[in-house]
Amino acid sequence: MKNFVIAIDGPAGSGKSTVAKIVAKKLNFLYVDTGAMYRALTLKAMKEKITFQDEKRLIEMAKNTKIDLIYENENYKVYLDGKDVSDEIRTEQVSKNTSYIASILKIREILWEMQRKYREKYHLVMEGRDIGSKVFPDAQLKIYLDASTEERAKRRYLQLKEMGIEQDFEEIKKGIEQRDEKDKNREIAPLVRGNDYFYIDTTNLTIDQVVEKIISLFKEKIH
Ligand code: C5P
Repeated sequence: MKNFVIAIDGPAGSGKSTVAKIVAKKLNFLYVDTGAMYRALTLKAMKEKITFQDEKRLIEMAKNTKIDLIYENENYKVYLDGKDVSDEIRTEQVSKNTSYIASILKIREILWEMQRKYREKYHLVMEGRDIGSKVFPDAQLKIYLDASTEERAKRRYLQLKEMGIEQDFEEIKKGIEQRDEKDKNREIAPLVRGNDYFYIDTTNLTIDQVVEKIISLFKEKIH
């Protein structure tokens, strides 16, 4: 029997991280944030000043990178080659540049392999853009979370503020729109809502309501 995977895909700010963490905790599953992996590689490329057109070097870099997602003192931490980059990977600059890294097939394949490994040991709640379509097409439960652009920008704004990062609201909204556009329209592993997904519009739902919905879908699946 394969370990259980709850795949949660959707655009930026749809509530994936918040909801996925709570669901994972409730079910005692491992929470995996795949966006953090794309962000970590993007940050490394920026630090090493590799131009995003230089695919060869970027792929080489990805092959020689260690990314660890660690649950530490009630917080999910992201380590890049042994260094905590949890906050650094959340800036708008990194968000913007991830689209380059995310569109390189060879890099995605490296990350897919890392992501699939988690299932060997754990039941998973994994969030991203292509979890149900590419990483685990056989995930037992696939959720597509969505919300209006205005609401998603508001959430992002508050999330950044909480982290002590002040950004202009309109800038964030524009950034989100551009990122969605790229994530949905890229050639390789675009964000798509397949027929096998449960679609949840979270615009007017509380976090608890979304969590409860997913837990009840999970219970239906295992009965
Ligand atoms: O989820 P998050 O907003 O942190 O993801 C950052 C970016 O990483 C996305 O905009 C997308 O381009 C990329 N990504 C992806 N596939 C995933 C997760 C994230 O392409 N599974």
